[in-house]
Amino acid sequence: MTRARFTLLVATSRDGFIARHPGENPVAWASAEDQARFRAAVTAADWSVLGRTTHGVAPNPQRRRIVFSTAAGAPVWRESVQLWLDPAGQTPDGLAALVAAVHPLRTGLILGGTRVHDWFLAHGAIDRVELTVEPVSFGRGVPIFSGQGAADPVDVFRRAGFGVIAEAALNAAGTRSVELRPVD
Ligand SMILES: NC(=O)c1ccc[n+]([C@@H]2O[C@H](COP(=O)([O-])OP(=O)(O)OC[C@H]3O[C@@H](n4cnc5c(N)ncnc54)[C@H](OP(=O)(O)O)[C@@H]3O)[C@@H](O)[C@H]2O)c1
Repeated sequence: MTRARFTLLVATSRDGFIARHPGENPVAWASAEDQARFRAAVTAADWSVLGRTTHGVAPNPQRRRIVFSTAAGAPVWRESVQLWLDPAGQTPDGLAALVAAVHPLRTGLILGGTRVHDWFLAHGAIDRVELTVEPVSFGRGVPIFSGQGAADPVDVFRRAGFGVIAEAALNAAGTRSVELRPVD
């Protein structure tokens, strides 16, 4: 079986936070251009992987999702296309095997939050990062990875082993898109 490919799709403040507080919808501060990219990426992907809180911000029961929750325990389908599980003891390829009968997982989107990012990083399974940096600063908030304070988001990914492949302005207000891949 071909290995599933995972893209981490994330919008951050310029000081490296994904939300001001858990439960905040990025719509509150992300640009229209980022939101359009987000919707297109979710539509194009086979499956999205997200934590319980991020799922709860916009549950969308028709979207194909794998939702991480310690409380879920063993994998359980809570909607026809939404699998909940505790990822402890699982692997990224194991996730693909669990959902294959419903829809093959060839391209997966890692939608966060923090500990979902941590889990994929620990498994060496982030094949690509599509980062949007919005021209806002939060000072504090929900980080990209655990243990990270305010920091330039590109530096956060560089320290985690990624290098910039491409960068572009998304609008005149200063929103930037940055694509990164693991450095060999
Ligand atoms: N800007 C962006 O691009 C972006 C991206 C993602 C999220 N967000 C925002 O970030 C906030 C949520 O992020 P968050 O980090 O606070 O929460 P989260 O990861 O969405 O959800 C946290 C919960 O998910 C479960 N979970 C996540 N990773 C797990 C793991 N490795 N093992 C076991 N359980 C795991 C746990 O559920 P249990 O407590 O049930 O065990 C945990 O309490 C929301 O405001 C969301 O909108 C923004």
